[in-house]
Amino acid sequence: MWCFNMRKKLLLGNWKMNKLASEAKEFAIASSPLVNKALKNNIDLGVAPTYLSLAQVKQHAHPNMIVAAQNVHFQTSGAFTGEISIPMLKEFAITWALVGHSERRTYDNETNEKCNAKVKALLAEKMVPVYCVGETLAEFEAGQTKVIVGTQVRDGLKDLTAEQVKELVVAYEPVWSIGTGKNASTEIAEDVCKFIRDVLKDMFGPIAEEIRILYGGSVKPENIKAYLSCPNVDGALVGGASLKIDSYEALLNNII
Ligand code: 13P
Repeated sequence: MWCFNMRKKLLLGNWKMNKLASEAKEFAIASSPLVNKALKNNIDLGVAPTYLSLAQVKQHAHPNMIVAAQNVHFQTSGAFTGEISIPMLKEFAITWALVGHSERRTYDNETNEKCNAKVKALLAEKMVPVYCVGETLAEFEAGQTKVIVGTQVRDGLKDLTAEQVKELVVAYEPVWSIGTGKNASTEIAEDVCKFIRDVLKDMFGPIAEEIRILYGGSVKPENIKAYLSCPNVDGALVGGASLKIDSYEALLNNII
């Protein structure tokens, strides 16, 4: 009988538009003992720096530190000013990328269709997409959470096979909880993450039990343990509280 706790916990920091490359390098060096601690406790640890810091972090962090891009283009090259492609990430041994973060959905017109193209392109290259979904405050208040999140999951992961999605990570981040200090209750986080897993089961079958689903939105050292105790929450995607090494260490310590 398969049991939920077979999924390896994942703590992923999203640095957004923060840290100079020099600061990112400093963090990468300081994080080495934390990666060792995480390894001993069967936890995956990672960060998503800005593009300009990716190489520094990859070079100076522990080899087991997951280093993720915050975005990627679905085409391999061409006339797409300001964009970065998968081969460009691979050249620096970056094999993870966030897709569809709510800030990109809001400010950069990242649609479910565009996310789908990115997820497909990443999986085709054996990379790991962290596909982000979540409803706005207005949608939450209108009781539309599952309609919105269900559509984001179905459209963003359209036309993929069960074999392909095994390595995928999904992150549920209610937009109203991001950077606001208004974190979702553990009941909401578990309810929506379970709903996401049910949608994944419907789309891909039993492999859905292996897909890691993260919660994100005002996760702090004080509340991370409660989220990670939810049966369908396999980790956290953390913004603000992942920026300082002490706080990042406290996040890790509190889920060990
Ligand atoms: P905060 O943890 O700062 O609320 O950000 C969450 C987030 O958007 C992570 O991707």
